[in-house]
Amino acid sequence: MAESALFHTADRRERYRELWPQLDALTRHEPDFIANLANAAAALRQAFGFFWVGFYLVRGNELVLGPFQGPVACTRIALGCGVCGTVWAEKRPICVEDVERFPGHIACSSESRSEVVVPILVDGAVVAILDIDSDRLSDFDAVDVEELQQLALMAARWYGMSIQNQEVQQNLRNRIDVHQISNPVESDQRPVHNDQNLKNQPNQ
Ligand code: SME
Repeated sequence: MAESALFHTADRRERYRELWPQLDALTRHEPDFIANLANAAAALRQAFGFFWVGFYLVRGNELVLGPFQGPVACTRIALGCGVCGTVWAEKRPICVEDVERFPGHIACSSESRSEVVVPILVDGAVVAILDIDSDRLSDFDAVDVEELQQLALMAARWYGMSIQNQEVQQNLRNRIDVHQISNPVESDQRPVHNDQNLKNQPNQ
């Protein structure tokens, strides 16, 4: 992946289209949502050299910083605040040509000049958002929004896989618990505690 993420095309749409299958291959069998988001952030930054790429995760009534690449960023964002909170509230992507002209923009870095934010929707609910910042004005347009929505669909699948995996893990744990309750370990099979073992030694 690292090698193949060196792109040979200059066109941004083509670069996105080279990236998606690579990311899909990398994440297809990985059920951990956070791990997949982490690789997505790294791949986007590596492919395009964006100033900041990252995800915010919906946690109760706030967005909380998730996997990202770039300078440190604000940790929590309330619903409706900044570009990210607005995207969460409105469930639609927003492309900001000049962050200084977006009312309520949250400036995590003074170097950020333009921004694109896309929601990750699962069954109509926002579960996370993707945020990309550029240190150049008007760096994003409809092509970025369109292509990044493809990534949002992929991320929604990662989310689904992680939920399914958690359910499978929970079912397994439940089955093991039930098995242990109905088949308690026989007394002569119980491991001997070290202290007890020592006490049973001669001359102790
Ligand atoms: N600018 C965003 C905050 C997040 S940082 O850019 C990483 C906003 O206004 O929501």
